[in-house]
Amino acid sequence: MRKPLIAANWKMYKTPAEATAFIGAFLPLVANQQKTEIVLCPSMTSLAVSLEATKGTQVHIGAQTMDWHDNGAYTGETSPVMLTAIGVTHVLIGHSERRQYFNETDETVNLKLKAALAHQLTPIVCVGELQAERESGRTNEVLQRQLTVGLKDIDAATATPLVIAYEPVWAIGTGLTATPEIADEAHRFIRAQLAEILSPAIAASTRILYGGSVKPDNAASLCCLEDIDGALVGGASLDPNSFAQIIANAS
Ligand code: G3H
Repeated sequence: MRKPLIAANWKMYKTPAEATAFIGAFLPLVANQQKTEIVLCPSMTSLAVSLEATKGTQVHIGAQTMDWHDNGAYTGETSPVMLTAIGVTHVLIGHSERRQYFNETDETVNLKLKAALAHQLTPIVCVGELQAERESGRTNEVLQRQLTVGLKDIDAATATPLVIAYEPVWAIGTGLTATPEIADEAHRFIRAQLAEILSPAIAASTRILYGGSVKPDNAASLCCLEDIDGALVGGASLDPNSFAQIIANAS
């Protein structure tokens, strides 16, 4: 039985004061929501206040990225040791914006994934094809490469917290959502890959989220499909009512 997970990726939005105000408004809206694991991923400067504001609730806090080293001369980076020390429990890895603007590759995704698992952080590994890759019929090839390299040499015994987010890049922030059929087909392909790379048992228990223009009015049709175990929400997670409505509609 896979517990649904719905995560908010606030990207480079919200000051600490805005994050605190969001959480104050959001918590009462999800107070009775026990069926879904809820994760908020604020920017680094809002992690501490978000942890404070959600203390004692069922809402978890995740980082949007991290480095794979424990510490060192890596100016500007944040390590898994630092994240777990303040109480962060989840981390996004390999988001397409990190790949596009910050030179992240399948190889660095692999290093970050290993570091997250070693430090008991729940990794949400993002994969997905570009529009041109879909149009040229290469979607499965791209997903297979991202998963094969990204999950290389992961010890199956430690891989159980793994979460995958399928985010077709052409659907991110564009208002274009994958149809349920497109998403379902990609999720089934990803689960089959997980069975080959890790094991059939881990594939069956791994949550695969959909991301890309998820809104309150399309959450139900996407999240009710057998192989879709939740959502990674960008723009529509910035408003507490909208994000709470997505959680309600998907549950
Ligand atoms: O991480 C979230 C995704 O990039 C989706 O963003 O919901 O604004 O399309 P979006």
